[in-house]
Amino acid sequence: MKQANISDFCALEDKEYLSKVKEFFKDKKHTYFVETYGCQMNVRISQTLAGMFQEMGYVPAESKEEADAVIFNTCCVREGAEDRLLGNLGKLKQIKKKKPEMLIMVCGCMVQEQGSAEKLKKRFPFCSVLFGTHNVHEMPKLMFSALTKGERQVSVWEKEGDIVENMPALREKEASAFVNIMYGCNNFCSYCIVPYVRGRERSRRSEDIIAEVRQLVKEGKKEITLLGQNVNSYGKNSDEISFPELLRELNKIDGLERIRFMTSHPKDLSDQLISAMAECEKVCKYIHLPVQSGSNRILKLMNRHYTREDYLLIVKKLREKMPDVAISTDIIVGFPTESEQDFEDTLDLYKQVCYNSAFTFVYSKRIGTPAEKMEEQIPAEITKDRMARLIALSEECCLRANEKYLGRTLEVLVEGVSKKDESLVFGRSDCGRMVTFSGCACLTGKIVKVKITSVKLNTLIGEME
Ligand code: SAH
Ligand code: SF4
Ligand code: F3S
Repeated sequence: MKQANISDFCALEDKEYLSKVKEFFKDKKHTYFVETYGCQMNVRISQTLAGMFQEMGYVPAESKEEADAVIFNTCCVREGAEDRLLGNLGKLKQIKKKKPEMLIMVCGCMVQEQGSAEKLKKRFPFCSVLFGTHNVHEMPKLMFSALTKGERQVSVWEKEGDIVENMPALREKEASAFVNIMYGCNNFCSYCIVPYVRGRERSRRSEDIIAEVRQLVKEGKKEITLLGQNVNSYGKNSDEISFPELLRELNKIDGLERIRFMTSHPKDLSDQLISAMAECEKVCKYIHLPVQSGSNRILKLMNRHYTREDYLLIVKKLREKMPDVAISTDIIVGFPTESEQDFEDTLDLYKQVCYNSAFTFVYSKRIGTPAEKMEEQIPAEITKDRMARLIALSEECCLRANEKYLGRTLEVLVEGVSKKDESLVFGRSDCGRMVTFSGCACLTGKIVKVKITSVKLNTLIGEME
């Protein structure tokens, strides 16, 4: 796959483009605000948006109301994410009335949805720039055109282009960083919009990933989280190394202390991955393994390509090789036709695995997905009841899993001082749990040993050793 960098792209039409853009924004001391919805991959894209703003000479604004340029990086995976964006965008309309020079932009998955850009354009005439998921690197060019020509800029690429390397990125966390290893998804789970808005799977070159991680370590990062919609299929359809091999390569990097990754699709979780996880000391013994449902009938309708038996076997193998491995999951409640028995199968699987934590979602109909056409959508009162039962069970399992850490010493990468109590700091353990303990801001970015003395649902509480 051809690789290019941002300067090449900006210069496609005009060799002097990037310098022209930079010159235009120079000394303006404009401020920007990036608002992010959705998954970690969107968080990572927002870091690139912020990086591009800063390259253009923009500085961060305190709030979106005060900013000269605001960008909403959107998500459309469920209706709720869309509703929040629409509400927040509506609020800015009044501010723009008082501040007509304010630049309001919308990008990301919602814009990429078929027909959505046109709808957004009509509904929000005060948005000056709209672009999709495949042309993020065009932001400077689109902003420049909107500002210099005074015309709205709408650019949505229908298909994914080449991977654009070397984009600027503003990573705010001191010691941890997200690193994309692949983009897009080929799985077409029947409920999911992601493959339609993120395009086909494409993997970055391993040498680019390794170089980026080395650079991040040089900048002081200790932990990296590798991102992809399905990291287990990294390297497929190309001559790249496999995901387990990539983990082994990254494990060799001096100065790097922790490697995390997400998300893993159970159908592609190989024995080689389990061995790599177990054998690489830097790879955290934690895995996010979305099951979605515990019913074989529903899993089939969801197009997930595994059975509950396959899934439970993976969990068994993970625990055989790594007795302490922490496991979390995603579950959808109320998928079309889900019966009480199907739901009880999900509860039963949940009890068998007894997850450390779970993200639970009520099924949300997405236009254009196969599940949209399925008859028998489940009424809200039933999904509400099922959700309450699932959450009760997940809380019980979470507490039970947390109690296992009582009296044990965990390594915690400190993220900062608690907002609620300045005498406390917080961070994540190797197993992905939030830990708080007495300490000072000077510990931020350090990995320290903490003995767990009590547990709550979402936090482990301890003392530094
Ligand atoms: N690629 C990842 C997750 C992508 S979206 C994976 O395959 O695991 C994150 C989660 O959102 C999914 O795991 C799923 O549980 C949930 N989700 C996706 N589409 C949904 C929909 N239409 N309604 C409800 N939840 C959905
Ligand atoms: Fe969506 Fe399935 Fe792809 Fe995850 S694997 S992004 S749930 S289609
Ligand atoms: Fe949402 Fe797009 Fe991520 S739809 S979950 S932001 S890939």
